[in-house]
Amino acid sequence: MTAVNPYLDGNFAPVREEITADTLLVIGKLPLELSGIFVRTGSNPQWPPIGQYHWFDGDGMLHGVRISNGKATYRNRYVQTAGWKIERAAGKAIWTGLLEPPQMDNPYGLYKNTANTALVWHAGQLLALWEAGAPYAIQVPGLETIGEYTYNAKLTSAFTAHPKVDPVTGELLFFGYSPFTPPYLQYSVVSAQGELLRTVPIDLPIGVMMHDFAISENYTIFMDLPLTFCSERVQRGEPMLMFEKNRPSRFGILPRHGDNSNIRWFESPACFVPHTLNAYEEGDKVVLSGCRMKDSGLLEPIQSDEESDRPLYQWRFNLVSGTVQEQMLDDVPIEFPRVNEQLLGRKTRYGYTTRVANNPVLLFDALIKYDFLINKSETLEFGQERYGGDIVFVPRPGATVEDDGWILTLVHDENSATSELLVVNAQDVTSEPVARVLIPQRVPYGFHAAWISEEQLSSSV
Ligand SMILES: [Fe+2]
Repeated sequence: MTAVNPYLDGNFAPVREEITADTLLVIGKLPLELSGIFVRTGSNPQWPPIGQYHWFDGDGMLHGVRISNGKATYRNRYVQTAGWKIERAAGKAIWTGLLEPPQMDNPYGLYKNTANTALVWHAGQLLALWEAGAPYAIQVPGLETIGEYTYNAKLTSAFTAHPKVDPVTGELLFFGYSPFTPPYLQYSVVSAQGELLRTVPIDLPIGVMMHDFAISENYTIFMDLPLTFCSERVQRGEPMLMFEKNRPSRFGILPRHGDNSNIRWFESPACFVPHTLNAYEEGDKVVLSGCRMKDSGLLEPIQSDEESDRPLYQWRFNLVSGTVQEQMLDDVPIEFPRVNEQLLGRKTRYGYTTRVANNPVLLFDALIKYDFLINKSETLEFGQERYGGDIVFVPRPGATVEDDGWILTLVHDENSATSELLVVNAQDVTSEPVARVLIPQRVPYGFHAAWISEEQLSSSV
């Protein structure tokens, strides 16, 4: 008997229908000022996989909850990538996934860009992102796929799933990494108007999986962590991607419009940082925070105890002395760290995350609000057998206080097999959510989310 892959089972299993549902049932009351669309992406394999399946392999599917005038509607749509279309026409899977050797003879290319990982809104356009290919432009609020987005053919690298938009200048900063061939890292700046201004190579000794980075007001911070790619290993039949405990972690800090000639590198013990919370400047220091893992077997089917342990850490890089201080801020394992993105790159008082559940499969059982001023946190438990995912902080229009707004996340109830969007008052997270929007279809556990405000929707190009 073959064991069922947990990432194809229960609420990890894909949904088959693309539905549109009006007037969703709401428990509580949706604030009238909360107006826009919450979109969460994730992995939803269109066809049964060839060989071993990894959670990251599935086709991107968008789940959108449009909120306006105290009412909500829902729709889910595949990201219709080139690969999705080829497999649609074939009526079956063509590509294998991350756990299988690369298909050197696949006429359509080694990998399928699933655009399944994250979303960004910039210059009037929603983009669905993967980290090893080009973004896909998405229509809002209908969530139809427009097509590959290559900045008028200026895009020459892959495009991270975690670009950063500076809330003051409106610039978008992104990078692309290359696993096996140099340049292993390229760094790009896009203007507030959406023009790709420059791409510069950054020297790395070897290809590494670089999932996230950070920006401060004046600097960009890269994380060259020892989760390495190695083609010789592949030839020896060993894993393509490995965590090398004996290599240091390297953090590179460069001026936002700088290049490889003015990057400063700092070393600290081996770790993997799947996501950053934020970075900011304080005197001579650049301060970075994020969730830190001691080990990462990213391609292992099931996570180890060490991997589920990913507490919030802070690194303080002294630009004058060249030293780095690393410090744990809290010992609770967390994921999906977020700040009020109107303050991205600046010091914030608050941070919002989900808590990693004690489970061999990656699940999130609570929401945490950190107050860094008084070093306290508040936790909203999702409840027994209820698990959430990525969170977004939505500022109240006209807010003058950092945490004046709502935290939104999708939660699935394993007992009733139903999904809902929680709307939580960010200034009172431990009370009953202000609204629970019931989704008329199961929403599989997934990856990252974004909020596109009414103002942004009306500026859509
Ligand atoms: Fe991510």
